[in-house]
Amino acid sequence: MIPAAETIQKNKDFTITSWIAQGTWNPIPIERAEGIYIYDANGKRYMDWSSQLVNVNIGHSHPHVVKAIQEQAAKLCYVDPSFATEPRGRLGELLAEVTPGGLSKAFFTNGGTDAVENAMKMARLYTGRQKILTRYKSYHGATFASMSAGGDPRRLANEPGVPWIVRLPDPYAYRNPVYRGRTPEEGDQVLAEMIEDIVLMEGPENCAAILLEGYSGSSGIMQPTEVFYTRAREICDKYGMLLIVDEVMSGFGRTGKWFGIDHYPDVKVDMMALAKGITSGYVPLGAVVVSDEVASFFDSHVLHGGLTYSSHALACAAGVATIEVYQNENLVERSRDLGKVLRRGLMDLAEKHPVIGDVRGVGLHHVVELVKNRETREPMSPFNKPFTDPMKQTAKALKDNGLSTMVRWNMVFSTPPLIITEQQLNEGLQILDHVLTDLDQYYEG
Ligand SMILES: Cc1ncc(COP(=O)(O)O)c(C=O)c1O
Repeated sequence: MIPAAETIQKNKDFTITSWIAQGTWNPIPIERAEGIYIYDANGKRYMDWSSQLVNVNIGHSHPHVVKAIQEQAAKLCYVDPSFATEPRGRLGELLAEVTPGGLSKAFFTNGGTDAVENAMKMARLYTGRQKILTRYKSYHGATFASMSAGGDPRRLANEPGVPWIVRLPDPYAYRNPVYRGRTPEEGDQVLAEMIEDIVLMEGPENCAAILLEGYSGSSGIMQPTEVFYTRAREICDKYGMLLIVDEVMSGFGRTGKWFGIDHYPDVKVDMMALAKGITSGYVPLGAVVVSDEVASFFDSHVLHGGLTYSSHALACAAGVATIEVYQNENLVERSRDLGKVLRRGLMDLAEKHPVIGDVRGVGLHHVVELVKNRETREPMSPFNKPFTDPMKQTAKALKDNGLSTMVRWNMVFSTPPLIITEQQLNEGLQILDHVLTDLDQYYEG
């Protein structure tokens, strides 16, 4: 076997990684993974407290999916998308079953960003209009148009991006001044009025769709109440626009429902973008699932777009097997139930550690926002700036203590695989407790 140091060196010498200056990359060499654990080349075990990038929902190396991939690979890995294959048809059928009523047909992509790109393209073709309205605090992927669609700062280096994105103010009750002195529902109502005003100013005849994460994700899990989604739907209906929900992160049981938007069962959606949990990361795959109306439009209109790997047979087989795991092991219900344990644990930590300013989320999809002072809400590390030393220490201490998770700005995410047990959840919470005890010294209350 190649020594770990050589693996690291080859990765650094011959490959490029995402989102950081390459010279600062100091990767841990991972050798294998099983269940909720990943193991490095020295045998050190890390609890996967984030399901990697919130995608490995069923945990690592699940035998049912591994077997399905092996069997499909031996039979047929790939044919071009003009052919029919068994796994493609079966996955489409399963998606029609688990997504909300009215969504009936899937176009398969390679991942999340191109699912969003294709959803926007389809909305523009369907409506004959150009503009897509999105939230500032959202992330929709890193290809060019999706990067513009996501309003969070990851887009800034690629500005000005595509010209047909219009950004909307955020239902961020913890910090948006609109919510001061108002209940979240009242704040959402005001925000919805502002959004309608924006549609009018942009010209409804130019507005194709509103694109929202089904449940807010990596920008910080800033989720509005039902009022916001209900009003967004009403605005779409009133002005002939489509409602697209991006469930790339919030889909497949993450929030204790099949999809984030399922928390608002009365809100009908026209298109849904999927990826991540669709195969739990075992093989890259994404999808746009569209309503009967949108699907029938494309019966007689050309879909101007395509991908070599659309409907990849191996990826679709992985998708079918992954959905079988969600169903056979009741993982959606498990996420709902264990989500309550996680929330209670995080709320207990918030009582103990003054640095926790806010706890947000539902199911196994939570974040804590760390602050220097609960009154002023000054973040422990400023938004969209390099980590402060205390935050850097926190991120390192979590890893050193065997907890691998997403730490961004002043936020620590808790989004473990849905197969986690209550005992493992408590072990993870204990590590958080230990690390936050050190961070409390930086509280300035
Ligand atoms: C909500 C959302 N949409 C889209 C994407 C992009 O997905 P991908 O990285 O597979 O392109 C992400 C990735 O984190 C996401 O969280």
